[in-house]
Amino acid sequence: MFIMKVLAFILYFFLCTFFLFAQKTVSIIPQPVSLQVNDGSFVIDENTNIEFNKKQKDLLSVVGFFASSVKEISGKTLSMNKKRPKNIRLLIEFNPTVGDEGYLLEVTPTSIKLTANTKVGILYGLQTLMQTLPAIRTNAKLEVPCMSVTDYPRFKWRGMHLDVSRHFFGPEIIKQYIDLMAAYKMNVFHWHLVDDQGWRIEIKKYPKLTETGAWRVDQTNKVWSSRPQAKIGENPTYGGYYTQEQIKDIIKYATDRNVTIVPEIEMPGHVASAVSTFPELSCTQKPQLPLTGGNYTNMASNYCAGNDSVFTFLENVLSEVISLFPSQYIHIGGDEVDKGPWKICPQCQARMKTEGLKNENELQSYFIKRIEKFIVSKHRKMIGWDEILEGGLAPEAAVMSWRGEAGGIEAARMKHEVVMSPGSPCYFDHYQAGPEGEPLAIGGFNTLKKVYDYEPVPRELNETDAKYVLGAQGNVWTEYITTPEYLEYMVLPRMPALAEVLWTPKEKKDWVGFNVRLQSHFRSYEQKGLHFCPGNFTVNIKPESQNGKLTVTLSSEIVNGEIYYTTDGTEPTLQSKPYSKPIIINSSFMLKASTVVNGRLMGIKAAMQNFVTHKAIGQPVVYNNPVSRYYMADGPNTLTDGVKGTDAVGKYWHGFSAKDLIATVDLGEEKEIQHLALGCLQHYNDWIFLPQSVRFETSVDGILFTEVATVSNPIEINRKNALFDFVADFSSRRVRFVKVTAKNNLCPPGHNGAGKPGWLFADEIVAE
Ligand code: ACM
Ligand code: ZN
Repeated sequence: MFIMKVLAFILYFFLCTFFLFAQKTVSIIPQPVSLQVNDGSFVIDENTNIEFNKKQKDLLSVVGFFASSVKEISGKTLSMNKKRPKNIRLLIEFNPTVGDEGYLLEVTPTSIKLTANTKVGILYGLQTLMQTLPAIRTNAKLEVPCMSVTDYPRFKWRGMHLDVSRHFFGPEIIKQYIDLMAAYKMNVFHWHLVDDQGWRIEIKKYPKLTETGAWRVDQTNKVWSSRPQAKIGENPTYGGYYTQEQIKDIIKYATDRNVTIVPEIEMPGHVASAVSTFPELSCTQKPQLPLTGGNYTNMASNYCAGNDSVFTFLENVLSEVISLFPSQYIHIGGDEVDKGPWKICPQCQARMKTEGLKNENELQSYFIKRIEKFIVSKHRKMIGWDEILEGGLAPEAAVMSWRGEAGGIEAARMKHEVVMSPGSPCYFDHYQAGPEGEPLAIGGFNTLKKVYDYEPVPRELNETDAKYVLGAQGNVWTEYITTPEYLEYMVLPRMPALAEVLWTPKEKKDWVGFNVRLQSHFRSYEQKGLHFCPGNFTVNIKPESQNGKLTVTLSSEIVNGEIYYTTDGTEPTLQSKPYSKPIIINSSFMLKASTVVNGRLMGIKAAMQNFVTHKAIGQPVVYNNPVSRYYMADGPNTLTDGVKGTDAVGKYWHGFSAKDLIATVDLGEEKEIQHLALGCLQHYNDWIFLPQSVRFETSVDGILFTEVATVSNPIEINRKNALFDFVADFSSRRVRFVKVTAKNNLCPPGHNGAGKPGWLFADEIVAE
């Protein structure tokens, strides 16, 4: 069956390619709502004229954009509003279908007609035309294939974010980033201008913010988490900031390309940069040097929520920000506030008392609501990360959902606007391939296909609430991304994939078609010298435990790829077995698999997985408490799939938040057993702890259970990360049912969440 699929794909790929070449390649990303390619082409040459109504002055900038792009690739100067045999007509004219950003495009051998309701629609029509032309200077004819296009976006927020605090990217790089966005019809640039490791926007009233807060001791050659803190006397040479003049210039540049810049002025946490400039803004008011990386020991990074001068400071900052940026939305951050300092700050505690706030979450909510009032008084809207829901959402706030989709769902149900940017798959600082052979990234695994398959409207929302989802956004945090080349690599081609998610109607999305079109974009990137990831060649190994049987399915994201595999521990070669159907597992073995494209083994390293067989393999597991939807691993029977979890959080583990794991396995028939084990994970910083204890019970009938052992938590590994098997060995007995109860732990004293419930991560119940 698999071979049939591959053959079908190869045929499809060949036909598409043949078809497209026969008619000139039309590889538009994002795919238009309707595109009909016809025979023939319109040739742009010296006789081509752009015709438009000169009274529509705002068209001048888009006409200029197109004419200069044509000049750049061909050296040809297009005439404007002259009598010439061939016209590109731009018409702003009412059309009920295409909305504010859409367009109609009609290309025939003798004319191009582009119609839209707005200048933006005309711009996007021209962007579509540009994708049919060569990417770089050429002497070849500029042929636009004849076609009819009707096009308009699905979502109004098609966003890309960039963190310029962890790494400073200068104005020219920002403009290139905006160019890339605009080419794919992305329209919101979320500019993360403030964070712990650098304050990047000039504030005229507080020049010290950028004199001090924008510069740190240069530790760029060390990995983020192992950079030593600055010492007194060391020279802070790394950094930079944007002057207000530069910002105005960038805003104009972006506006000309229909990109709205949403500035983020982070608060009340993540502001060590502001605190290093003005220590009096923090709770302790102690001086500190600018952070160099991820070492926060003894560093304050919050504003004091009890100090009125903090609000005066922020209102002054926001006033300047609001007068610079025309954006309707102003982002105020709000994420990951460590409430610890507020708990021991007399001013914060006094504020809680006078305002009647029950806890520090409500104090955060007070902070954000007070800021929202100010932003609304300036006729703007506030947006923040989903933590702004905690302790009560500000009345008109929009929410950016990053910790999964739960925050977005909650906010949309409350009739608040929402932008979806869940870590998976919208964080483009995560790995997209490998990870072997990839540049060092912060972690995670968000492949091109995962991005392409993303659906921004969660199925949990009804039709009315779904309307509050404005769109989605790709986020690029730069702890590890310290060069423009690496930045390009991380967004290409994930940004084009997200662009298609956000623009193209859901029913028109087509993964294979996208891949076919992407090949011509890859050629453009190569010609322009842009860096990009050619694909994720790592084979996905998916065990499936069902009806007492364990099988493993292999898949590759490479659409014309085949898979070759071994089960004897050797590296796959072209002589290894080609994968065609799920592999049945009935003995312990090491599986290794590689993607092959056109007879070449791809990727640096084969994907591998060790399978161990035991008496519970493939058997159904029933839980008393449901597994968290965020940590489902490979599905319902992950605990009996013969694959033991590794150190990677998320991939293999079944997670339980604040609940015990109570799992019963039906062995299918009575079996002789004398050993039971439950594998668990501890990841201190991710709030994942080994259980307090694990109780093992067995039963013949599934009703009456007998305890065989209770194993308690090995406290000596508290605080560390660990993989730990809770094990019970006992004299052999015949049983059919095994019950495992693992008691969820609290975050230990000294932990950020001390006393709060933690996560319990379990994988593989082994019965022997
Ligand atoms: C975030 O990633 N802390 C919004
Ligand atoms: Zn305080």
